[in-house]
Amino acid sequence: MAVSNSARSKLLLRGVDPERIPRHVAIIMDGNGRWATARGYDRLYGHQRGKTSVKAIVEFARQIGIEYLSLYAFSTENWQRPGAEVSGLMRLLKRYATTELDRMMKNGVRLRVIGNMRKLPRDVRDALRTTIEATRKNRELTVMLALSYSAREEIASAARALARRVKRGDIEPEEITEDTVAQSLGTAGIPDPDLLIRTSGEVRLSNFLLWQVAYTEIYITETLWPDFREPDFMEALRQFQVRERRFGKVEGEAPGDGDTAEAEALSLTARRARLRAAH
Ligand code: FPP
Repeated sequence: MAVSNSARSKLLLRGVDPERIPRHVAIIMDGNGRWATARGYDRLYGHQRGKTSVKAIVEFARQIGIEYLSLYAFSTENWQRPGAEVSGLMRLLKRYATTELDRMMKNGVRLRVIGNMRKLPRDVRDALRTTIEATRKNRELTVMLALSYSAREEIASAARALARRVKRGDIEPEEITEDTVAQSLGTAGIPDPDLLIRTSGEVRLSNFLLWQVAYTEIYITETLWPDFREPDFMEALRQFQVRERRFGKVEGEAPGDGDTAEAEALSLTARRARLRAAH
């Protein structure tokens, strides 16, 4: 996607190469509760401030040409939180879907949801569906919200779908490949994340995109999600690019060859494909 000159300068100033921005960034937005509790607020206020971070990061991602941004907003386990927190989060989600629609249309942002939307309250589901439908053709940035999401359930659901196809005689078991599984997941058609960010210092995947992150670079920051802004995102991108550069050096090039123009010119996708092949 087109990156403006001002975004390009901002990136360069922070040591981020505008030509090697990851296509897909996934974020485990953690630490809202701790952020609020540490300041004597209700946990829900932490989620509200987390929503402000979501808006800021979506806008920044769009400006710098990220194509897909996946946000872990509500896991299946989150249903077990106190009722008031769950309903507060649902209200925030509904309001986000409703109030952000205009901005999404103006900025070419497409909303998509993975997870079990049927479990969401009807009004929240309806608000999300309206925005998903209205933004369907937008192509600048896809924001993928994981809601009532469990990666294991997503994989089990893909297995059920494939088993049904086998039972119907549409495909043979031998025809089930990594590609057919990937195409049966909620993320069908979306490239795997290049970078996964988790805030608040926890070092866990927490049942998020388990299939899709097989080769994803993981970046953990101590910053709590309500404090996460452009500079934190820049640092994650910088770390990502440092790792990518290292990878260019170890990937089967003759010694000293790693930084040749040819190696540098390899797209992230091509490098990732080579990494897969090497494993
Ligand atoms: C984890 O923090 C965060 C969540 C369970 C919810 C994430 C929701 C938002 C960021 C706000 C709304 C989202 C959108 C897309 C509008 P936590 O509560 O587990 O924090 P803790 O580990 O400090 O308790």
